[in-house]
Amino acid sequence: MSIQPVGNASGRVIMGQKNIWIGTNWKMNRGPAEAISAARALSSFRPPKGIRTFVAPPCTSLRDVSSVLQDSPMIVGAQNMFWEDSGAWTGEISASMITECGASMVVLGHSERRQHFGETDWTVNLKLRAALRHSLTPLLCIGDTLNEYEFGVSQETLARQMKIALHGVSQEELARVLIAYEPVWAIGSAGRPAETAFVSKIHTQLRDVVEDIAGRNSAVRIPLLYGGSVSKANICEYVALPDVDGVLIGRAGWDPADFMSLVDSVSALVSSEVHA
Ligand code: PGA
Repeated sequence: MSIQPVGNASGRVIMGQKNIWIGTNWKMNRGPAEAISAARALSSFRPPKGIRTFVAPPCTSLRDVSSVLQDSPMIVGAQNMFWEDSGAWTGEISASMITECGASMVVLGHSERRQHFGETDWTVNLKLRAALRHSLTPLLCIGDTLNEYEFGVSQETLARQMKIALHGVSQEELARVLIAYEPVWAIGSAGRPAETAFVSKIHTQLRDVVEDIAGRNSAVRIPLLYGGSVSKANICEYVALPDVDGVLIGRAGWDPADFMSLVDSVSALVSSEVHA
């Protein structure tokens, strides 16, 4: 990409000189037939320079979606994986199965997995390290629950989730990791989008945590995405925040036309910032 992250004097990323990541997680929607048709609709889309797009279909559609999008800049990712390479793990899929399907990314630690399927910081760490071993790009999701938010311990919760998930990851490996801050209380139809001032504060703190564990260069470089009720109405406000490097979208990005239009709305912002 020609637009690279650049740190300013305080080590922050300067808006307009960073990659913006925009992706959508289809969650448990779209079997192969529907997924192929949605992927076809996305296949000719060319995001402008500086914007990287990705989609995470369900695992049964991963191979088809990867094959439809193989000549497209759209990155394809799985929504989950297990940390062992193979064996007696009924119902699980491994990193090598994901790469064999043609996908190159994997979403890890999504709050729906933590809430409903017993994922812990420790298992997320095992998965993240396995993904890196297999050259997958991990998109690590972290998030505070409503209780944690109301008790005022969001920062502590997120620092813990991040430190444990990234434990044992080298600086070189960290350069391949993306992080999405997704407040649990902001996700889904019952969620409410987080205030931009709050997201801004949290993202600055997240970058400081990365700086603590891996140094300033890693902190400046790491893409920090926001997710949770992102929509046409608020996407530009989030992306314009200095420490927000993109968004992870659920519902508002499921329709391919809507997804492309969300990317386009941000592209206008990116080019106006670049030329400012
Ligand atoms: P939402 O989902 O945009 O539908 O709130 C976001 C997510 O779960 O990543």
